[in-house]
Amino acid sequence: MNKDVIIACDFNSKEALFAFLDKFTDKKPFLKIGMELFYAEGPAIVREIKARGHKIFLDLKLHDIPNTVEKAMAVLSSLDVDLCNVHAGGTIAMMEAALKGLTRPDGTRPLLIAVTQLTSTDEERMHRDLLIPDSLEDVVRHYAQNAKKAGLDGVVCSPLEARLVKEACGEAFLTVTPGVRFADGDAGDQVRITTPAKARQIGSDYIVVGRPITQAADPVLAYERCVAEFLGGNKA
Ligand code: C5P
Repeated sequence: MNKDVIIACDFNSKEALFAFLDKFTDKKPFLKIGMELFYAEGPAIVREIKARGHKIFLDLKLHDIPNTVEKAMAVLSSLDVDLCNVHAGGTIAMMEAALKGLTRPDGTRPLLIAVTQLTSTDEERMHRDLLIPDSLEDVVRHYAQNAKKAGLDGVVCSPLEARLVKEACGEAFLTVTPGVRFADGDAGDQVRITTPAKARQIGSDYIVVGRPITQAADPVLAYERCVAEFLGGNKA
């Protein structure tokens, strides 16, 4: 299992992104590109970042009818990203279609994971707005099991749910977790947070970290600290 830190590149232009990346002179961190940058700059931004030697998690969270998702995934696969995602709420049929679209003629494909429930959705909202009466934990477990049934490689979830997902779907099933903060850092708008070291202990394979690195006075130092705490066994 390749555990790693993924930097959430929530920038609104490629100038802002490259000003940030230029600080990393001798490192090629794994990067997450989300809707903001992808919609602002288009697929060319993915090719440019790949050409610079970075791995890419393209976080577009597809959720549509299976045929549309299958076709869209075929396009993303040709961009040669390393990791991409869909919403598990799109059903097992949609996730199977996504996997089919993503698989290239030679049988290779990027890793595919599913969002269980967004960490911005709390249990009360899930009951009230979505009319899902079960507990949030049961829904996360069930959606993760659906993703596994569909053949996906893992899920995006809160680091606090990583153990529950591993117990339900096995150790090899990937957990990719945002909501990570340094013990002495600012939480911002994240609520269910934990530190890099704790995320590793609970079972995260990849932590997605944005503002604690992108907004740091020294982003390279903050990235190195994050890697050391997550991979190096340092206490946070
Ligand atoms: O800046 P911060 O570390 O909070 O960034 C976390 C990143 O992970 C953002 O890009 C955010 O959109 C994303 N994310 C999240 N919670 C989810 C899914 C994605 O924070 N459930």
